Amino acid sequence: MKNNKEILQLAINASKNAYCKYSDFPVGACAVFESRNEYTGCNVENSSYGLSLCAERNAISSAIAAGEKSKLIKLAVYSSKTHLCFPCGACRQWIYEFAKGYNTQIILQGLDNEIKIFGINEILPYPFEIL
Ligand code: THU
Repeated sequence: MKNNKEILQLAINASKNAYCKYSDFPVGACAVFESRNEYTGCNVENSSYGLSLCAERNAISSAIAAGEKSKLIKLAVYSSKTHLCFPCGACRQWIYEFAKGYNTQIILQGLDNEIKIFGINEILPYPFEIL
């Protein structure tokens, strides 16, 4: 499995493809699964602002569309426009969905290049769940 710096580099590369003409806030993400497969995504905005898609959900959607079935182990998120780009509330719930019980590592890097790691259970302590 790639190390955290390598995964972050894939997120940095993905952020360069961001379609963010409304916010000018590019974000890149790289999702790594237990299968060792990795998938990248960037944010894709729309003139109807609320339809914009975050980089994290884009990366996870690519994984599911490609047939990925294993647990989401790591998710790197990068933005050059802020210190650390924490996943939004909707993305946290998405990460939780595909973590399938695993405490997915959220690996963050921002404009000062500091790297911080959080568990999904830490940043989403009370997820919605249908049992
Ligand atoms: N955005 C992401 O892609 N991921 C996040 O974690 C937070 C926000 C995007 C959505 C929108 O295109 C832009 O950043 C500004 O909110």
